[in-house]
Amino acid sequence: MNQHDTPLYSALEMFYRSKPLSLHVPGHKNGLLMKNHNFFREILHIDATELTGLDDLHAPEGVIKDAEWLLADAYQAIKSFFLVNGTTVGNLAMMLATLEEGETVFIQRNCHKSILNGLELTKAKPVLLGPEYEKEWKVAGAVTLETIEEAYERYPECRAIILTYPNYYGMTYDLKAIIEFAHRHDILVLVDEAHGAHFIGGEGFPPSAVELGADVVVQSAHKTLPAMTMGSFLHINSHDVSIKKVVHYLGMLQSSSPSYPIMASLDLARKYIGTYTNEDEIYFKKAVEHFKKEVETLEFLKVLDYPNQEGDPLKLTIQSRCGYTGYELQQFFEEKGIYSEMADPNNVLFVLPLLKKGDKFPFEDIIAKLKELTIRKKESRADAHYFKKERISTLYRVQSQKEELVSIQDSVGFICAETIIPYPPGIPLLLRGEKITKQDVDGLLYLLESGARFQGGETLTEETMKVFHKLEDNDD
Ligand SMILES: Cc1ncc(COP(=O)(O)O)c(C=O)c1O
Repeated sequence: MNQHDTPLYSALEMFYRSKPLSLHVPGHKNGLLMKNHNFFREILHIDATELTGLDDLHAPEGVIKDAEWLLADAYQAIKSFFLVNGTTVGNLAMMLATLEEGETVFIQRNCHKSILNGLELTKAKPVLLGPEYEKEWKVAGAVTLETIEEAYERYPECRAIILTYPNYYGMTYDLKAIIEFAHRHDILVLVDEAHGAHFIGGEGFPPSAVELGADVVVQSAHKTLPAMTMGSFLHINSHDVSIKKVVHYLGMLQSSSPSYPIMASLDLARKYIGTYTNEDEIYFKKAVEHFKKEVETLEFLKVLDYPNQEGDPLKLTIQSRCGYTGYELQQFFEEKGIYSEMADPNNVLFVLPLLKKGDKFPFEDIIAKLKELTIRKKESRADAHYFKKERISTLYRVQSQKEELVSIQDSVGFICAETIIPYPPGIPLLLRGEKITKQDVDGLLYLLESGARFQGGETLTEETMKVFHKLEDNDD
C-alpha cells in the first residue's frame, strides 16, 4: 500500500459498480428512492453501511483498517483514527482518554467550546491560560512558554496542557519549546489542530503538532483538506496515551452508523495530502501570493501579515481601511457573491484553496468582483477591541447554585452562569463559572454593537444575562 491508494473509497466504488440489491439500511436503497433529486442522489450511491467487504469503523479489520493505517503513515503517528463528528468529538475523546476527575489541566483560554465541554465531562480542574494579544489584528494569539512556566510553578500537579495550534487566523507559535517543557515535567500535550491538517504538505507550511511531538493531535480534515464537513482525524503520537481508552471513548461518542461518504472523503483527503508534492506546493504558493498581491492593490482593504513566526499560507486576513467592521466588510463581499470563512469586529478571514499543480481557481473573478465594489470612507470608529487580560485564572465551583437574570451593565462581580460564545469563531467570551469583570461587560456590549452572533446568552438581545445568585469560594 502507498499514499496513492484509497482502500475505503475504492471498495465503495467497486461495491456500487457491482449493482448490489439493497435489502438493508439506509432507507434510500443506494439512492433508488431519491429518483426525483438527482443532485442529491449521486452521493447516496456510496452512502453504504457495514456490509461484507466494507468494514466497520468501530472494529476495523479490512478497508477501514487499511485506510487508517495509511493515515497514520502519512502523519507518522503511532495510531490514527477517522472521525465522523468533527474535531468536536476528537477533542472530547482526547480529553476523556487522558484526564481523570479532579486532575489539573492547563487550558488555553481562547480554546474551542468542545474543549470546555470536555472539561465538564471529565470533571478535570482547569487552569485557564490567557493568550497574548495581537495588536494589529486585534485578536487573541498564542499562549507563551512563560505563561505556562508560571502556571506550572503554581500548579505543579498539572497532568496535561491543551493548546490550539494554529489559531483560526493561521497564527502559529513555538509549540516545540512548550512540548519540550511539558515532557520534561511529565505533562501531556494535547493539541487541537483543527486548522492544520494540511501542515504536512511541505516546508512552506508550519510544522504539524504531530511532527513537533504533541501526544494527541486532532485535526478537522474538512476545514483545510478536501474532505466532507464533519470529517476529522485523531492521531496518537505517544506511548503515554492509551489507544484502548481512545477507542473506548470514540466508540461511545460516535454514531454506531458512521457515514460512509464522510469516511470515504477522509480516505481521499489523506491521499490528497499524502501525495502532495514539492511542485504542488510551489504552484500553490505562487497562486496565493499573486492573489494576495492583487488584494493588496485594493485601496479600501488592508492585508495583514503574520506577527512573528511563520503563519499558515492557506489563510488570508483582511481589514477595512475605510472604517468598516469585519461584519460590514463581509456583507459587501457577499453582495458580490464572495463568501468568506468568518468575520469578527475588525477582520474578515479567507480560507484559500490548497491547490495542486495545474488546478484552476477563480482568483481573477474574485479580484474583478472586489474591484467592482465602491466603498465610501466611513467616519472612523473608535479603535475598539475586546481582550481578556488575566494570564492565569481558574473557574468557580458552581454546582447547584441558583441562577438569576441581571442586566449586562449590572453583571460585574457576579459569577457567569452561562458560557457565552461569539460564533464564529466559537471561542468563548465568558465561561460558566467565570467572574464577570468590567472589561468583559465592555467587550460583550462592544461585540453586540458590532453585530456579532452568539451561542449561549439567549437573553443578550434583551441586554440581560444569567448569573449565579451569590459568590462561592474560589476553588483555587
Ligand atoms: C479551534 C477549533 N477547534 C475545534 C473546532 C471544531 O471542529 P469541528 O467543526 O471539526 O467539529 C473548531 C471549529 O471551528 C475550531 O475552530
